[in-house]
Amino acid sequence: MKRLKIKRIAINTGGGDAPGLNAVIRAVVVSAVNRGWECYGIRDGYNGLLEPKNYPEGGLVHLPKSKVRGITHLGGTILGTTNKGNPLKWPMKGKDGKLHETNRIDELIRILKKNKIDALVAIGGDGSLGIANVLSKKGMCVVGVPKTIDNDLDKTVITFGFDTAVSFATACIDRLHSTAEAHQRVMIVEVMGRYAGWIALESGVSGTADAILIPEIPYDIHKVARKIEERWKSRAHFAIIIVAEGAKPKGGSYSVISKEIGRADKLGGAGEHVAKEIQKITGKETRCVVLGHLLRGGTPTTFDRLISLRFGAAAVRALNEGQNGIMVALDPPTVRYVPLAEATNRMKTVPIDCDIILTARDLGISFGD
Ligand code: F6P
Repeated sequence: MKRLKIKRIAINTGGGDAPGLNAVIRAVVVSAVNRGWECYGIRDGYNGLLEPKNYPEGGLVHLPKSKVRGITHLGGTILGTTNKGNPLKWPMKGKDGKLHETNRIDELIRILKKNKIDALVAIGGDGSLGIANVLSKKGMCVVGVPKTIDNDLDKTVITFGFDTAVSFATACIDRLHSTAEAHQRVMIVEVMGRYAGWIALESGVSGTADAILIPEIPYDIHKVARKIEERWKSRAHFAIIIVAEGAKPKGGSYSVISKEIGRADKLGGAGEHVAKEIQKITGKETRCVVLGHLLRGGTPTTFDRLISLRFGAAAVRALNEGQNGIMVALDPPTVRYVPLAEATNRMKTVPIDCDIILTARDLGISFGD
């Protein structure tokens, strides 16, 4: 492959935000500028380039070092993000007046080239890195950085954002213990994670939950209820149950709030459903707390800051070494490169025989199975 002489790169942040995004941006900008490259940020996913009329001040912003000063510890992303701007499935009104998914990827590449962007650092989850993979196959030089609180990206031990989300969920579960005990209630805690149960599992075990319901293990509500009855019999008159938003009953399906063209299904309601059923079966007062977007906010943990800075710097090193079509990945103790195609080939769900599940079972935590 012909080695590209890089002068100018662009960064994009796509999909749901995750703590650590700004740390990655800073590491990319500082490492790139130190190599004499120019850095630009694309606003709101790819919207800054594909919807220029919405950005009178420019959808592609110059990022000198001064623009990324003091942002390592900040949540969100200084570039903005969206999960509505997939260039492969862009919603466009057809002649029938209805919205249709349109592929605008070639147009995006033309715009990037017109702006003299030699390479792209795409920071995202499975959706955004799938787009990055297509861009690279079509000739754009791309390096991906694995982001998502869900930790469901394959070929990396962890994604940045996950540690902050799990730490916050655990802190919330800790707080719920005392109020659950004071009122002798069952508290249901619904956490994000889409079709993977990582956040529910790790926070549930760390927060000593009584039951954890994850998408990978469809549950039988009567078995969950039995676990609660057992607790009451053992004189612990309260219970904590963690429900992943993607949890589903045996033979049932995900709780979907809405479907919209050009974006992933919106999940929600799994916790409330479990709460109603548990109250009905056990007769015990049951309340549901949905942590939702709180898991995505706030300052990244030290772990997430460090891994984000390492990922960002590694992405620039990868470009400098002539890499293309790869994602930086944590493979302790190092960060290595894996093909984007492999990383986005399948979702990394919780293996049901993994050590954390075994630990939970040994500690008497029910999965409702
Ligand atoms: O993928 C990250 C995530 O936070 C999921 O856990 C969740 O289902 C989804 O994004 C929610 O996205 P939105 O921003 O559309 O509510």
